[in-house]
Amino acid sequence: MSPADFAADARVLWRMLRGQPRRGSHAERLAGFYAPQADRYDSFRARLLHGRAELIEALEIPDGARVVELGAGTGSNLEALDWACPLARLASVQLVDLCPPLLAVARRRVAGLGNVEVIEADATAWRPAQPVDRVYLSYALTMMPDWQAVLANAHAMLAPGGRLGVVDFHLPEAAGRMEKAFWRRWFGHDGVHLSGRHLPALRSLCRESLVRERRAALPYLPVVRAPYYLYVGTKAA
Ligand SMILES: C[S@@+](CC[C@H](N)C(=O)[O-])C[C@H]1O[C@@H](n2cnc3c(N)ncnc32)[C@H](O)[C@@H]1O
Repeated sequence: MSPADFAADARVLWRMLRGQPRRGSHAERLAGFYAPQADRYDSFRARLLHGRAELIEALEIPDGARVVELGAGTGSNLEALDWACPLARLASVQLVDLCPPLLAVARRRVAGLGNVEVIEADATAWRPAQPVDRVYLSYALTMMPDWQAVLANAHAMLAPGGRLGVVDFHLPEAAGRMEKAFWRRWFGHDGVHLSGRHLPALRSLCRESLVRERRAALPYLPVVRAPYYLYVGTKAA
C-alpha cells in the first residue's frame, strides 16, 4: 500500500473512530458520518464488507429483470451486478439511498448508463412504479433503525416469484453474551446495529433458497473476525 493510500485509510479510520454523529435526523447523521469519507468509501469497504459479489451472483438475475438495491451508497455493487448479469441486458436498476454525499459518487458512477437510476429516498417508504424481480440490501439493514419496515417494504415491492437478498453483519445465535456485547458496542459506535433478529425475520418472510453464516477479517484488525451472513429468499408466487 502506498503512503497516499495509507493516509486516505487513516482519514476513514479517524471518522470511524469518532463514530456517527449523535445529533440530527437519521439522514443528517448518515451525511455527517459519510461526507468526509465518501471518496475513499469504495476502497476501504472493499476490505470490510465481504460476500457482496457472492450475494448478487446467488440472486440468479435473469435477462430483462428489474432490480432494486436499497441502501446502495456509492453504487459500488454495480460492478458485481454487471458481472452477474450484464447491465445492458437488465430492464432497470434502481439504486436507493438516503445519503447525498454517497449518492453523489453513485451518480458519477452511473453517468451514461441509461437503465440505471440513482434515487434519494428512504428505504422504509420508497416504492418502484411497478413490482420488481430482485431486491437486495448489502450491509445496509444494520444501518436502518426501522429495519422491520424496510423488510416489509422490500417484500411488498417484489413481484411474486421475485427474490430478496441480504448480506450483512449480525449476531449469530451461537455467539456468547460477551461477544455479542463487544460487537454491539464496536459497530454501534458507527451507527451499525448488529442484531440476532434480522436473519430469523428474513427466514419467515420468504421461501429460503440460500443462507450462509460466516466470519471475516476487518482491515487492520487481523485477530478479530466479524460474523456476517448471506440470505436469499423467494417471494411466494
Ligand atoms: C454500509 S453502507 C452500504 C452501502 C452499499 N450497499 C455497499 O454495499 O457498499 C449502508 C448504506 O445504507 C444507507 N441507509 C441507511 N438508512 C437508510 C434508509 N432509511 N434508506 C435508504 N438508505 C439508507 C446509508 O446511507 C448507507 O449508504
